[in-house]
Amino acid sequence: MTTSPFSTDILIIGSGAAGLSLALRMADAARVVVLAKGSLSEGSTYYAQGGVSAVLDAGDSIESHLQDTLIAGAGLCHADAVRLTVEHGREVIEWLSARGVPFTRDPSAEHGADYHLTREGGHSHRRVAHVADATGRAIQTTLEARAREHPNITLLDQYIAVDLITRRKLGLDGNRCLGAYVLDRRDGQVEALAARFVVLATGGASRVYLYSSNPDGSTGDGIAMAWRAGCRVANLEFMQFHPTCLYHPQAKNFLISEAVRGEGGYLLLPDGTRFMRHFDVRMELAPRDIVARAIDHEMKRLGAECVYLDISHKPAAFVQEHFPNIYAKCLEYGFDLTRQPIPVVPAAHYTCGGVLTDLRARTDVAGLYAVGEVAFTGLHGANRMASNSLLECLVFAAAAADDLHPRLARAPEPPPLPAWDESRVTDSDEEVVVSHNWAELRQFMWDYVGIVRTNKRLQRAQHRVELLLREIGEYYGNFRVSGNLIELRNLAQVADLIIRCALARKESRGLHYTLDYPQANEATPVRDTVLVPGNFAGADAPPLWGERVQG
Ligand code: FAD
Ligand code: SIN
Repeated sequence: MTTSPFSTDILIIGSGAAGLSLALRMADAARVVVLAKGSLSEGSTYYAQGGVSAVLDAGDSIESHLQDTLIAGAGLCHADAVRLTVEHGREVIEWLSARGVPFTRDPSAEHGADYHLTREGGHSHRRVAHVADATGRAIQTTLEARAREHPNITLLDQYIAVDLITRRKLGLDGNRCLGAYVLDRRDGQVEALAARFVVLATGGASRVYLYSSNPDGSTGDGIAMAWRAGCRVANLEFMQFHPTCLYHPQAKNFLISEAVRGEGGYLLLPDGTRFMRHFDVRMELAPRDIVARAIDHEMKRLGAECVYLDISHKPAAFVQEHFPNIYAKCLEYGFDLTRQPIPVVPAAHYTCGGVLTDLRARTDVAGLYAVGEVAFTGLHGANRMASNSLLECLVFAAAAADDLHPRLARAPEPPPLPAWDESRVTDSDEEVVVSHNWAELRQFMWDYVGIVRTNKRLQRAQHRVELLLREIGEYYGNFRVSGNLIELRNLAQVADLIIRCALARKESRGLHYTLDYPQANEATPVRDTVLVPGNFAGADAPPLWGERVQG
């Protein structure tokens, strides 16, 4: 057997807020390798605008943040995950500040020392710490800079993980994760990378939809790899649609932050009427599911291509100061935020479900962790509250680090791993199949598994995804892997899981809205949708749910 020589203590797949913050928390004690499938910055983290929620204002409280999160989550949040997250808000903001993230300060505060806090949907207080309107860029570039400086961190861009390697896959006892097969996109070679611990920090799956606020790489790779390795996944029916992406043929995925509504922006119909009062007393600051559905409803009712977001009633200097990047980007497309309403539409934005973890970020497979958007920790319930996601990345990375530190010394070295077997594959003769399947998948997910669902639409989508999975499986078995094929295979896998979760939920709740069951089912206890893979480790799996109350 040819074996692979590459080995490290901790292999982190993903270089966003979750992956890099965990790497930095581990690097003094361990050799850490961080993978990015494109450039290091090309995850969702870089594009985050609004900020990171945390209780920092004297008039705010942990209980209030907790309650707001529970309300947005529509009965499905796990109170222990919410408490853990909100209690660590201040700590992670200070951790980021200490590493050099230049949070916007409140000039009216004494000595200018306090964070400026903005407001977003669902939050009953000003609670979102931010770096103007480009918070993610500041976090990503700062963490990258710190990671580059650390001698124990190896950053590998253009390396895409194909699959996890587990003892079970190698025919050994138990189901510990031993590493991953990784494609070097520069030379097309697949290597086996061995590690004592593997962490999935691969982000979400919003690119399963035709229209998305996310960068191209949000293809659910971590969810699909974990599922194939024997991990349970949960609550994938709760895909969040952000209400306001710029509507312009050239503005690919450009988000208009919820903070624009937080600072007083109105939503308008094409004739200029404000309409949110018909949907929720909180108007434009209702949680996202309500606002996105209201927009979808009005667009369909009127046959309109978009609605409008207007903050031109605020002083121009205020708008330019708070939203310099959004203002500049809109001007590029011919819209002046200070003078006119801008056209907006909803787009897929965030994956609330994911790989099931406990509060230490452990998954069902020993040695495998999941942190950030890839994970299902129980925090978001049926609907994530704005700016709770970066917070989750940072808090659960810290929790994973606390769990990993004492385990490092005891963890076994992985055995030699078999090299990737390419003996039965050839170069692809028809790459067009990949792009064709990709387009088809995203279109039917948008049409049938979008903001408003029905059983019939979900079943249609299920038939199509089953066909695609078969076709992609054959293709994968016969041809040399490429980045596009890996992503397509994962997208189709995750689409199937989303549809299965959506079909299983016979009610409307939070982000899952179906015309067949338009109300929440209050007659039976509310439950998470947990999918169990055929190769679930069962008795081998750590008792993730312990004494936790599910829903
Ligand atoms: P990401 O930052 O998405 O990083 C994923 C990483 O995994 C990348 O490095 C990628 O290359 C790597 N990867 C993926 N698959 C593979 C593979 N197979 N092999 C190797 N590497 C792989 N949240 C907030 O809390 N506040 C906000 O203001 C906010 N604004 C947002 C605005 C936009 C436009 C978007 C898209 C999201 C926003 N979010 C916001 C959500 C938040 O940004 C994300 O949930 C969060 O950044 C996810 O971080 P992550 O580290 O889990 O993953
Ligand atoms: C935004 O700025 O509207 C995005 C915030 C988020 O997704 O949490």
